[in-house]
Amino acid sequence: MKKTVLLALAATLGALYLPAGSAGEPISDTPDVLKARALVKQLGGALKKELKAALKAKGPAGAIETCHLKAPDIAKAVGDQSGWHVARTSLKVRNLQDAPDKWEQQVLRMFEERKAAGEPLDKMEYSDVVMQDGKRLFRYMKAIPTGKVCLQCHGSDLKTRVSMQLDSLYPFDQATGFKVGDIRGAFSLSRELPR
Ligand code: HEC
Repeated sequence: MKKTVLLALAATLGALYLPAGSAGEPISDTPDVLKARALVKQLGGALKKELKAALKAKGPAGAIETCHLKAPDIAKAVGDQSGWHVARTSLKVRNLQDAPDKWEQQVLRMFEERKAAGEPLDKMEYSDVVMQDGKRLFRYMKAIPTGKVCLQCHGSDLKTRVSMQLDSLYPFDQATGFKVGDIRGAFSLSRELPR
């Protein structure tokens, strides 16, 4: 009897300490979550549009330079307009400026676990309020799936010109070897909350 009560207590405490959303249950639609989703849509849409046009005009090797020059600016513009911090990150980055911080690493690993448990990637997201450097931050991440078009520059079988261009711009590139359906990375957004 005593043992049962203790076990029940441990289970309750365990549930209390497990952050909401970490096991893949939906996160609630707060105004910050809705805003973060809208910004992801805006950034994702702008990046896709730019990528598509560059691939069509210049092919994959030429489009790398467009990504190199424009992707950081596009993210910064979406951030500046909204007052949020808006970025992309990954456990295997191409641009070292996209390297994940500790919180992002934890969330990216959790996304991998959720994927392994069978959760689809299209709506995989996570958010939390964290204290960081004395600031209260709302943080949000959304998984980015690898599609077929991505393999031209993030897959295993790259064209020679693509590999050469990547080597010259990103000597520390880790973002190859992905397959369709892998988590390529995530959008990562935050905003400072009043204390
Ligand atoms: C034409 C080549 C090319 C294609 C195709 C491409 N990417 Fe990239 N990707 C890049 C380059 C170059 C960067 C680095 C951009 C920078 O310097 O900020 C990058 C960076 C990223 C990043 C940021 C994290 C990191 O590794 O630095 C993500 C996430 C990403 N790509 C996802 C995708 C997805 C998803 C697709 C398919 C929809 C895709 N990419 C297709 C070239 C490409």
